[in-house]
Amino acid sequence: MQAVIDYLKQNQSRFVDQLCEYVRFPSVSAQPQHRKDLQACAQWVVNHCQGIGLETRLCATQGNPVVVAKTPHQAGPWSVERRSVGRPTIAPRSTLPRSHAPRSQSSALRPPPSTRRPHFVVYGHYDVQPPEPFELWKSPPFEPRIEGGALFARGACDNKGQNLAHFKAVEAYLNTGTALPCDITFVIEGEEEVGSSSLATFLHEHRDELACDAIVISDTGMPDARHPALTYALRGIAAFEIKLHGPARDLHSGIFGGTVDNPALALCQLLAKLRDKHGRVAIPGFYDDVQPLSAYERKQMARLPFNSRDYQKLVGVPRLFGERGFTPVEQRSARPTLEINGLTSGYQGEGSKTIVPAWARAKVTTRLVPNQRPARIINLVRKHLKKLCPPTVRMEIEAGHGAEPYLVSPASPQARAALRALEAAFGCEPVLMREGGSIPIVNVFKKSLGADALLLGLALPDDNAHSPNEKFDLGCFAKGQLMSAHLWQELARL
Ligand code: BES
Ligand code: MN
Repeated sequence: MQAVIDYLKQNQSRFVDQLCEYVRFPSVSAQPQHRKDLQACAQWVVNHCQGIGLETRLCATQGNPVVVAKTPHQAGPWSVERRSVGRPTIAPRSTLPRSHAPRSQSSALRPPPSTRRPHFVVYGHYDVQPPEPFELWKSPPFEPRIEGGALFARGACDNKGQNLAHFKAVEAYLNTGTALPCDITFVIEGEEEVGSSSLATFLHEHRDELACDAIVISDTGMPDARHPALTYALRGIAAFEIKLHGPARDLHSGIFGGTVDNPALALCQLLAKLRDKHGRVAIPGFYDDVQPLSAYERKQMARLPFNSRDYQKLVGVPRLFGERGFTPVEQRSARPTLEINGLTSGYQGEGSKTIVPAWARAKVTTRLVPNQRPARIINLVRKHLKKLCPPTVRMEIEAGHGAEPYLVSPASPQARAALRALEAAFGCEPVLMREGGSIPIVNVFKKSLGADALLLGLALPDDNAHSPNEKFDLGCFAKGQLMSAHLWQELARL
């Protein structure tokens, strides 16, 4: 292990250079003009994986390619048996109780425990969020800049820097000739920021090959540099767009204004009815499936490092706002929300243009918590909006991506092993937390592979994920590599 640790220490500046190469690709999955850049970025990941000695494939999908890279000499697939109905059942590879994993009915294909080698999948994504608005970036989003011990670029922390940290740990094992105590397969996709639909299909088709003991993901955050974190819950999401159509074309607001409804105003009135003044979502049935927080969990959440003054400064609002009766920590991670992500209508250019716009559109997402389901929420939204919509406009609702919320026990042996790895790398005691963001694929991993995710985030609250001037702290990058190096030892020991 010492050789691995020394290798990591000695190679930091080369690793940072490689991260700079990685973030130069404008791999924006939401924007069709970047299809080629996503392809090129995936190819960079492939070349990099091959360079460190992984058995690597670039797998085409309906959308952006998936990179699959394995530590050498892995045993072939053996652990998945099929029931007659064709649903996969997964033979437990470890003797740990895994309550969620479907149990196999026969042990015919299961090797004896002595020949079993643990297998872990590391998941990450090479796609990034749109960089706009460009003018708020201190330096161009795809031209990496290092300042104050951090690397600034779109994708630096979300998620290129975080997945590269795991690659570097494995590189250290391979290049120092240190035996890895387990098999590791990297699955790096290019559609996370748009809902991971191609990867969902891919996982189902490759469930035999990818059968594993756990999924390791660094794509979440930590409260601050002194508190590494294991995240045991993520919110889900349901996205939709509302479009209101008014007149057949933009009209002169002087000639026609007053006789036709204004779709922008109608949309504002409609949207305003979706949340009450106490911060509760005002869609009938929205909270029906919400699992209340236990007193125990609320107590634990209250102990997390959180300072509301600093937080308010970080986000730059004159005053915090959230659902009445809950703390900010609860509001942002364990309570559902409804947000307008984008609102468009009429003339957006310089100066004025006096029109009644032909249409108005809003992009909306709701964040979901256990046991809300995206499909049901979208139905409730549709029903409610239809009821609210005035007859003076025509409404179109288009459902977008969706992801289920995720929650696992933070007390499993694997979770405890992960906590030990965090502590060894960061030199301070890790915290357990819920996160408000979503990683759509985690539930798919659980359903198709029967494996839980270990969410070991390396992003800091001021890393500006999805915002201008995204960065990744180079200290977190280095400690993340160390954490990964320790993690394989801790997990394989179980
Ligand atoms: N890395 C984030 C998810 C995240 C961020 C989890 C912070 C916890 C804390 C991920 O890349 C992301 O942004 N996901 C999207 C998914 C959506 C577009 C389906 C999200 O949460 O908005
Ligand atoms: Mn993201």
